Amino acid sequence: MLKKTELDILRTYQKNNPSFYYTTNKKNINLLKKKIEDFFFFKLKFPLENFREKNLLEFGCGSGQRSLVYNLWAKKTVHVDFEKKSIKNARNLFKNFSNKKNYKFFENSIDEFSNKDKFDIVLSEGVIHHHNDPYSQFKKCQKFLKKGGYFVLGIANDAGCFQRMLARQTLYLLSKNKNEVIKNSKIIFSEFLKRSHKYSGRKIDDIIADIFLVPTWKPISTKEIEKWFKKNNLKFFNSYPNFIKDSYFADSHNSPVANHYSNFMTLSELVWMVHKEKDLKFINFYKNKNRNLAKYLKKIIKHTNGTNFKKKINVNKFLKDTKNFKKLFQNSNLDLTKFFEINKFFQELDNFLSILKKKDIYKVKKFINSSRFLFKGTYGIGINYYVGKKTTRKL
Ligand SMILES: C[S@@+](CC[C@H](N)C(=O)[O-])C[C@H]1O[C@@H](n2cnc3c(N)ncnc32)[C@H](O)[C@@H]1O
Repeated sequence: MLKKTELDILRTYQKNNPSFYYTTNKKNINLLKKKIEDFFFFKLKFPLENFREKNLLEFGCGSGQRSLVYNLWAKKTVHVDFEKKSIKNARNLFKNFSNKKNYKFFENSIDEFSNKDKFDIVLSEGVIHHHNDPYSQFKKCQKFLKKGGYFVLGIANDAGCFQRMLARQTLYLLSKNKNEVIKNSKIIFSEFLKRSHKYSGRKIDDIIADIFLVPTWKPISTKEIEKWFKKNNLKFFNSYPNFIKDSYFADSHNSPVANHYSNFMTLSELVWMVHKEKDLKFINFYKNKNRNLAKYLKKIIKHTNGTNFKKKINVNKFLKDTKNFKKLFQNSNLDLTKFFEINKFFQELDNFLSILKKKDIYKVKKFINSSRFLFKGTYGIGINYYVGKKTTRKL
């Protein structure tokens, strides 16, 4: 029996299918395969070989496009979703595009699902943050993992989703009912809706349902996820985006894994919170600045490298190069928090909230149209991926 909160979610998804939906054909499947393979390899550092000869269980498969890719890679796959039409669509997709007979579908909620088997990979993407108690769903999903198996979790991040959650609240403050939420979202957040439609191929109404109408969104912080992993003997393997960790707070190779960096995660989350579409801009900016920095850094290192008692360093030259490097670094503005203009983002947030208090939709719209940071581009980096490996050891 579904709980009331689950039923509310199910009803929204019965009306509007949340999975991306373009006309599926062989070409699209191949493109998607390549995209997902690259995501797993380059971003999660989880190569395709990890799926080979493995049994995989997926929770919340939606209409099955991504599931099909996992099915083509793994030995056997099981897919669970509580929405009838999605399962039907997924079955058809598999019938048409998988020549294997190595899959099963279950029309079940996560809570209802039971199975005697354990799996090498358990995967759930974009699902459990829609539950009132996401941790209970996490606990249930990972129960089906074999020892040594991997859990791949795609879940909304609280900072990364901040702008989307604020957009939801903005609509709720300005609308009397669901129809008004739909209408107002098209007035205020049209730029965002068009952008999401362009990149995901989903229909605008489906995007509105998935973000603004779904009754529950409970994004989770990275720190919380680390706690969940620990409590359930899941060794943290990787995440995407990666959070500022070892590179800043590196330890000696032989010392035990320390968690002293976990308090600094908020640095990454701030960047996820204000992200719009600067990746490419940042890469170009970094490339230009970095070219000289790298050159000067090499110069500095060269001064001492290979020197010995007989081959002494030239202190004057060394000092000159060091000064040059320092100047270059100061001018490079290579401070992430500055580059993402976090201060200005919060200034705009402050102004926005003052306007929101007046509950005037046209003032809100005017503000958003002229803002430079808030409600621009991607509206943050919302869904994060975490991979954990099930161990027997207490972590
Ligand atoms: C946003 S979609 C994601 C679909 C797919 N994983 C993807 O990434 O494209 C969420 C899916 O999870 C399903 N879902 C949500 N809550 C669920 C629950 N408690 N039990 C089973 N399925 C659930 C919904 O029916 C929907 O198909």
